[in-house]
Amino acid sequence: MAAASPEEAEPTLGPGLLPRHIAIIMDGNGRWAEQRGLHRWEGHARGARAVREIVTTARENGIQALTLYAFSVQNWGRPSEEVERLMTLLLDYLVEERDTIMDNEIRLVGIGQTQRLPAHVLKQLRFLEEESKANDKMTLTLALSYGSREEIVEACQKLARDVAAGALAPEGIDERLLDRYMYTRELPPLDLLIRTSGELRLSNFLLWQAAYAEIVVTDVLWPDFDKAEFFSCIDEFRRRERRFGKTGAQVTEELL
Ligand code: FPP
Repeated sequence: MAAASPEEAEPTLGPGLLPRHIAIIMDGNGRWAEQRGLHRWEGHARGARAVREIVTTARENGIQALTLYAFSVQNWGRPSEEVERLMTLLLDYLVEERDTIMDNEIRLVGIGQTQRLPAHVLKQLRFLEEESKANDKMTLTLALSYGSREEIVEACQKLARDVAAGALAPEGIDERLLDRYMYTRELPPLDLLIRTSGELRLSNFLLWQAAYAEIVVTDVLWPDFDKAEFFSCIDEFRRRERRFGKTGAQVTEELL
């Protein structure tokens, strides 16, 4: 049989440093659909297909944590039909991907104001969270009804309650402690934040966690985001020099 042509070759990720925690702002579903004369929700449906491909790709390549911005607090303000379609896609995902998640030993977690989700979606989310909680090969976090400022406000409220209860002194509050009040407390530090569709903003996503993350923006619209593009974002991450506020020379010395 003839060898596969370069176009058909399966994309692979070469050896090298892997980001432990990757988060993705999955943007551009609406534009993808509009460019094709389709309804916006058809872009979301294609976006859900991309989610499936990227979750298994991340797992197969040893990523410890993948966090996806699936629905923001502000998205509740979209037309009700679009919101309903998104909730249906989410429910379908939680039902249909159950076996893939369990077979691949992925732990699924929802973060955000998840209590605002429709009861049947929330029930399925809680079911899969519970069922997958001992899985330890990768944590898939779905940010649902999520907002980063809202997360920080909630963290401050919990901290204030602990101080008021005498469980904590104000002087005891530092970065590490505040980090433990965030939804992401059990995840590794965020290394790489990817945004699709070319927009240069964080859109209220992981503002605290992204302090030292490398940000990679691709022009590809989310429904077209595939394995090859995912690997190209990781390659871009590998080309960056992470200095965490130090000089390049200091970082090189620390590595020696
Ligand atoms: C942003 O694109 C995307 C969203 C608001 C929803 C993301 C949802 C999915 C990818 C599918 C469902 C998720 C799961 C986990 C199954 P946009 O609509 O703002 O695009 P636009 O900027 O082009 O209008």
